[in-house]
Amino acid sequence: MQVRVRAPTKVTLFGEHSVVYGYPAIVFSLPIYIDVSATEHDDILIVTGPANVSSVDLVIKEDRIDVGPKTKKYLMRYISYILKAIERFSVPGIMIEIKSPLPVGAGLGTSAAVAVGTVAAISILKGLNVDKMEIAKLAWEVEKLVQGRASPMDTAASALGGVLWIEKKEEWNIEPLSVDEINLVIGVFEKQKTTASLVAEVAEKLKRNRLYSEVIKLMGEIAREARRALEDRDWKRLGELMKLNHAMLEALGVVTEETSRAVHYAIEAGALGAKVSGAGGGGAVVALAEDPIPVASAMKVSGAKKVFTVSEPSNGVEIL
Ligand code: PMV
Repeated sequence: MQVRVRAPTKVTLFGEHSVVYGYPAIVFSLPIYIDVSATEHDDILIVTGPANVSSVDLVIKEDRIDVGPKTKKYLMRYISYILKAIERFSVPGIMIEIKSPLPVGAGLGTSAAVAVGTVAAISILKGLNVDKMEIAKLAWEVEKLVQGRASPMDTAASALGGVLWIEKKEEWNIEPLSVDEINLVIGVFEKQKTTASLVAEVAEKLKRNRLYSEVIKLMGEIAREARRALEDRDWKRLGELMKLNHAMLEALGVVTEETSRAVHYAIEAGALGAKVSGAGGGGAVVALAEDPIPVASAMKVSGAKKVFTVSEPSNGVEIL
């Protein structure tokens, strides 16, 4: 028996980094998917993927992991954490294949989508009745193990889909927002650092100087105002708030020269707003555009390896 699922990636519209400290964020689940298949297998678990894409190539036997030459170290760690999170599913006996149109770690929640897709595929194959919310929670456990500190934002966006409001009150509150079509242009740039190291760098800065805590707090306020702008369909205000969010990321020191230039070029090309999305260190840039064509060209000129235009969010993880 084989189960195939697809798990969407995401773009953070507001509140990356500050969401790790419980402040609100707005995330858009992208209709760009990681495909995961799980197949019943004899007595071992094999995880494979094309070298240039997900670069996974390892065989897990009960007491040892054989790592193939294609497997990147951080991905191996990722997969072993997935196994840990889903231990209770008695994993041995499954072959998993992962296919991604983007490099994992591109800054669009690709690693969260790998976790969501793998957890979903294995649980369905094992006949377990696990709903999307539980898939999100299990995959979040993986994110926490890998990153050391992680918000439930990326895994919720991948599992549940839509446009989500994420905020920690007593508990984490995850609320779907109803958003009309919105023109987003997304550029993917070379990622120079991992999300885990960027999250740790920001934590270090917060410890060192209380002014960084003010920046994080302000990002929460920007997200709150952005929610009102989204609900009022006030795109001009929303664009301005994206620029403000980007300025805060610059202040946190997570923006590279290339992505900073991409934001400026996108705005010069007519975008209402633009910002880095996700942890930074390169990665993704998102722009809000009335006319996406010149903005997409500006992203390419500034060095984007891939450019996407999207207007509607995905519906979350799905069986194929
Ligand atoms: O760069 P990405 O897509 O991995 O997003 C990370 C988002 C952070 O807010 C920086 C971390 C988190 O856990 O929310």
